[in-house]
Amino acid sequence: MRAILATPALVDTELPEPVPGPLDLLVRIEAVAVNPIDTKLRAAVGEGDPPRQLGWDAAGVVAAVGERVGRFRVGDGVMFAGDAGRAGCYAEAVLVDERLVGRKPAQLSWAESASVPLTGLTAWEALFERLDLDPAGGGGGKGPSLLILGGAGGVGSIAIQLARRAGAVVVASASRPESAAWVRELGAHHVVDHHRPLAPQLAALGFEVVDRIANFSDTDAYWEVMAELIAPLGSIVAIVGNRRPLDLNRLKAKSVTFAWEFMFSRSQFQTADMGRQGQILDRLAELLEAGELRPTLGRTLSPINAANLEIAHAQLATGSTIGKVALVGWG
Ligand SMILES: NC(=O)c1ccc[n+]([C@@H]2O[C@H](COP(=O)([O-])OP(=O)(O)OC[C@H]3O[C@@H](n4cnc5c(N)ncnc54)[C@H](OP(=O)(O)O)[C@@H]3O)[C@@H](O)[C@H]2O)c1
Repeated sequence: MRAILATPALVDTELPEPVPGPLDLLVRIEAVAVNPIDTKLRAAVGEGDPPRQLGWDAAGVVAAVGERVGRFRVGDGVMFAGDAGRAGCYAEAVLVDERLVGRKPAQLSWAESASVPLTGLTAWEALFERLDLDPAGGGGGKGPSLLILGGAGGVGSIAIQLARRAGAVVVASASRPESAAWVRELGAHHVVDHHRPLAPQLAALGFEVVDRIANFSDTDAYWEVMAELIAPLGSIVAIVGNRRPLDLNRLKAKSVTFAWEFMFSRSQFQTADMGRQGQILDRLAELLEAGELRPTLGRTLSPINAANLEIAHAQLATGSTIGKVALVGWG
């Protein structure tokens, strides 16, 4: 099968097809989406290190199943992020534990479907399992105020829609006219510019503080401002590891809850509820099929090969991606 390996340069290669374990699906990949984790793990591959098969966002067709697989059959369309401890999805055929897999949303394209899993799981777990928003909260906009830092990126684009649907009053950050327009289209009630001081912009919108903060950008850079802006008894979730020690005492006087969200925790530690990720993906598929969520795909490249993955990685490195970047087909 064709595969792309990080050496760290991305190279097209041929590899033998992997053989499913008892709970694995062998998925023939139709489309992949890229994420910052791809470029971060690629940066960790040194010259002379064993090459790494990256990629943790995919959609494709089940080609074979392990003996204990129960949820899927050969021929099913599926989407998944998978497990960062295993080979990624930059290959024609990939193994994934069925508990981490959701069905492909019926009317979405392969590229749109591949753009759902990693960011969809991150946003869902952040909002509904860490910040305790209610996924079925209703669209009244009477719920808690939520500041989303990094609204137009992959995670922000799906989180805005989920939070709005959950009834939160959503203030999303975006710094450019095109990213601000994108977050408004996705349902943000208000937009603030993360390259200008946030407190005066929020005050002008009527928010001295906000009930919840979802930080999908730099945790260190926003620590002090989050401590200022969060309401007493509020909650903060962050998804980007800190580089310097964080002063947790800044949150004590207000009894603020701080939580990490890491999409790969369940697969890395094989938690008893690992199958929850398959259920979340199935729920996201339902919401996309019902038109309650819209796809977040921003740019499509074709075919899936090293040259186009280089272009996609370079796009991510700009830090100004709107929505998701996906690659489709093998040419
Ligand atoms: N813990 C986890 O499970 C997990 C999961 C997914 C992602 N992540 C991490 O979360 C981060 C975001 O991921 P992503 O896929 O959403 O990335 P992305 O799509 O590359 O994000 C791009 C967006 O970042 C915004 N941005 C740039 N500078 C910013 C700043 N100073 N403050 C706020 N926003 C800024 C840009 O908005 P403008 O163009 O408007 O400036 C752009 O729309 C990455 O570091 C990624 O590795 C972690």
